[in-house]
Amino acid sequence: MSDNPFVLHVSVECYPAAKVGGLADVVGALPRYQKKLGWQTAVIMPWYENEWFRKQQWEVAFEGSCKLGSRTLEFEIRSRKSDEQELYAVYFPHGPQPRRVYDDPEIEHDLFHWFLRFQVAILTWIRQMKPQPTLIHCHDHHTALIPFMMTRSFAFRELDSIPTVLTVHNGRYHGAVPLARFHDLPAFDLDDIGLLEWDGKLNPLATGLKTAWHITTVSKGYLKELMTGEDPLKSLYQHEQAKCTGIVNGIDTDSWDPAADPMLDEHYNQTTVRQGKAANKIKLAEEFDFSADQPLLTFIGRLVFEKGADLLPDLLREIRENTKLPNVQIFVLGSGEQAIEDRLQQVANEFEQISLVLGYHEALAHRLYAASDFIFMPSRVEPCGLNQLYAMRYGAIPIVRRVGGLRDTVEPITKVADPQGEGFGFEEFSIAAAHGAIKEALLLYQQKARVEQVRKRIMAKELSWEHSAQQYITIYEQLKT
Ligand code: ADP
Ligand code: GLC
Repeated sequence: MSDNPFVLHVSVECYPAAKVGGLADVVGALPRYQKKLGWQTAVIMPWYENEWFRKQQWEVAFEGSCKLGSRTLEFEIRSRKSDEQELYAVYFPHGPQPRRVYDDPEIEHDLFHWFLRFQVAILTWIRQMKPQPTLIHCHDHHTALIPFMMTRSFAFRELDSIPTVLTVHNGRYHGAVPLARFHDLPAFDLDDIGLLEWDGKLNPLATGLKTAWHITTVSKGYLKELMTGEDPLKSLYQHEQAKCTGIVNGIDTDSWDPAADPMLDEHYNQTTVRQGKAANKIKLAEEFDFSADQPLLTFIGRLVFEKGADLLPDLLREIRENTKLPNVQIFVLGSGEQAIEDRLQQVANEFEQISLVLGYHEALAHRLYAASDFIFMPSRVEPCGLNQLYAMRYGAIPIVRRVGGLRDTVEPITKVADPQGEGFGFEEFSIAAAHGAIKEALLLYQQKARVEQVRKRIMAKELSWEHSAQQYITIYEQLKT
């Protein structure tokens, strides 16, 4: 181990090991960029019984046991044998192994237990590490009890001089359970129970906000929304304001590179963007049986309320039925709430020009960013959003609701006749507003030279992690001294 300061990232998702959404992409990329800035970095995550885990070579770095309430659980910390990013996984040998992150049948009936045992095992391991990490960086509520346990649990408070950072990727999920579940936590002074409590429940996210040394959110705009909008933890964010920073996500521009991405049908760069995107569209159109002569408008993402996915079925019907503009081909790739999936399936059956793929397909997502002319994100809430960043890198013009990180990262095109800016935006969450922005985008599409100008501009935009990774390091440096 080098003498460099050492940050341990704790997360339940990490690309490519286990991914549900952007959290995995961030934890898969940020540590590698921090390493370039002189910090030693490692990620620790739960063990999942999936193909990726099976393919890696592992060794046991530590064996131990931890107590949750009256139960003693044995565990192993497994370390991946690889020259790539240092990665550890917490493996509980007894009992069933989950294959998936949140909705695995083995764990979803008591996610609190599953996340808690993961966190307690990690602290048990860290307690005997030599040297110990310089700083622990927790991601989302699944890991947000760590700062509390490191300062209040009798078993772990010897770790209380190690600074902690909690990043809020998605403040809608708190992981709250009945307050009586505090019995499962390692013993602490009951005078501290108020730190666990919010609105009568044990609320891990609120606990993390109260006890972490520093809080970050994944964009400045989202932090502002949390402090001024309708969030149930608004007063807590306000109270903790002095230790909160908004840092916008970057993307891994080495692996998300249209000139080298192995998942694409054709490679291209800023100079060859027109031909490159056209060739990718033709390949996709052949496979999914649509005409490549039309503009392609795509939605990729979780089909859930916060992404505004419930707007899609009626909006798509409206676009198909009412638009007097040139035809547009629509592609939806996603999975999520059953009711939204069913309604989407209905419209896709009704209209030939709507392609729908339900499920999670990493390679298809890459091919879609490359083939699409527009990426549509009607999010109700968007802490940062990575789709619009990948889209810009691949020359697909974003059409976004101006909220959270979308507002921060996509400069609006206000005049189609003179398209400065990077994408189309709309404020109000409504079919009319979304449709208005799509119409503008389709007008632009008719002006090939202007489209190309915008594509080149967005492909050249600085989106890499370098700048944001430095902002995290600046915070780490301040905390460690
Ligand atoms: P969130 O994390 O809230 O889901 P982000 O925009 O931050 O939203 O990140 C979403 C990530 O997940 C992107 O990398 C996107 O390409 C990917 N993604 C979402 N749904 C799918 C899907 N059905 N198939 C493939 N990739 C998907
Ligand atoms: C969350 C947010 C998304 C963000 C991602 C990575 O899933 O919903 O907006 O980009 O985390 O930080």
